[in-house]
Amino acid sequence: MKVLTCLKSRQSYLYKGEGDFHSKEGKIEEKTILEHPRGIIENHLGKRFAVCDANDKDKELKMKRGPQILTPKDLGYIAARTGLSKHSKVVEAGAGSGAATLFFSKIAKEVQSYEIREDHVKIVQTNLNSFCTDKNVNLILGDIAEKIEEEKDIDLLFLDLPEPVRILEKNLSKSVNSGHYVVCYLPSMTQVSELVNYCKDTEQYLAEEVSEIIFRKWKVSGNIAHPEHQKETDHTAFLVFVRVL
Ligand SMILES: C[S@@+](CC[C@H](N)C(=O)[O-])C[C@H]1O[C@@H](n2cnc3c(N)ncnc32)[C@H](O)[C@@H]1O
Repeated sequence: MKVLTCLKSRQSYLYKGEGDFHSKEGKIEEKTILEHPRGIIENHLGKRFAVCDANDKDKELKMKRGPQILTPKDLGYIAARTGLSKHSKVVEAGAGSGAATLFFSKIAKEVQSYEIREDHVKIVQTNLNSFCTDKNVNLILGDIAEKIEEEKDIDLLFLDLPEPVRILEKNLSKSVNSGHYVVCYLPSMTQVSELVNYCKDTEQYLAEEVSEIIFRKWKVSGNIAHPEHQKETDHTAFLVFVRVL
């Protein structure tokens, strides 16, 4: 897979590596790209393109999508805020499309990933196979609420599902390491309130932080600089960091 960048428009395109490359800036024949796997090539309109190798993040843009995936702004903060490292064991649910699974698998020692829907498990498995990160991931078809008490030595429990309280109601003291986190990813404030109020009534959990990560890209060109279209700052979900006491 390659990234082709038009040097005039500064627009980049992902080229999957099969057949001729077509874009609104014209066509480039497959054999031209194969002959120049890196460097500068010209298309039939005389437009110059830089060819470079696609990195993992470029490739993930082409990952198979099922349900809504987590974005880098949220994933990066979760990893930094919970102290995720190469020694960590992560348990997550639901796997969905596998975006969070792929991210955690690159940092953590081990990822146990639960998904209740068989069609979503197939999507995640396809993505794990294509990104070759399935070695430290165990993908399990099932309801995490029924299995969580069997899991041990968890450093991060990540829940991207509608009713996290159902999981917190289980006895997690033998599953999640003391002082470590359950992070819940919730699109609506009603879900957040329910979770935080539940934690308040227990001696086991401290809802330490509720946050929303605001991300704003800027367009900079010559003397002009302004924030990009509002869509970029759209709400994704709230993050609730629940510490296991
Ligand atoms: C929004 S998606 C998760 C997206 C995923 N985090 C990603 O980055 O691609 C939510 C997923 O949770 C699954 N799910 C819901 N309840 C579940 C449960 N109790 N156990 C396991 N998976 C569950 C759903 O089937 C759905 O695929």
